[in-house]
Amino acid sequence: MMRNIIAANWKMHFDLDTAIQTALQMKEELNGFNDVELIVCPSFVFLHPLSSILRSSNIKLGGQNLYFEDKGAFTGEVSAGMLKSVGCEYVIIGHSERRHIFSEKDIDIQKKVRKALEYNLKPILCIGETLKQRKENKAFDVVERQIVSALDGVDLSKVIVAYEPVWAIGTGVAADRQTVEEMHNFVSNLLDDVPILYGGSVKPENSYELATINSVNGFLVGTASLKTDSFKKIIEEFKKAKED
Ligand code: PGA
Repeated sequence: MMRNIIAANWKMHFDLDTAIQTALQMKEELNGFNDVELIVCPSFVFLHPLSSILRSSNIKLGGQNLYFEDKGAFTGEVSAGMLKSVGCEYVIIGHSERRHIFSEKDIDIQKKVRKALEYNLKPILCIGETLKQRKENKAFDVVERQIVSALDGVDLSKVIVAYEPVWAIGTGVAADRQTVEEMHNFVSNLLDDVPILYGGSVKPENSYELATINSVNGFLVGTASLKTDSFKKIIEEFKKAKED
């Protein structure tokens, strides 16, 4: 049985108080979901306080990025060892905002995945095509290239992949069922036994339908993960779809 995983990507949201309040609420409200791996990825600066709050809960902690060197003169960067030392078990790597706003290249992402694994952090590798690439019929080639490059020679047993079509992120409109199913089937043929999450405008209203797709093993949720109510509803809908 493939693991089911739902991760919250809080991006650059909240101040310390709000992050703590939201984590406390989630700890209480999401308490009963034991058959889904739940992960919260807050800003780096909230990781340490959140790790003591979430230590005795079913919610695991993840970073949103890391740098691929162990240590040194890299002002503003955060290492895998640092993430580990504040209680992270997961780390998002290659998110489309990192690729497009901060110009991360496939080679950087490959190094980051390897560094995460070296430190026993589970990478959540984000892949996905832009609208232009989809219109030019390059979506499958792009996704394959991203996968092959990032995961070349790595032990896949600790890896999680998130398919996040760039054009669906933060727009409020998720990719349609057929698009998600086609890409998830394609990715699962390339990567045996690797959980594949869908991300891009997942919300309570569309999570049941998306979760009815066999090869969708969970979600990476941005906007709708900032509120406990909507995040909880997404988990409930996901579970309902998998049990029906
Ligand atoms: P969204 O973000 O749910 O707000 O579209 C998802 C993500 O970027 O991981």
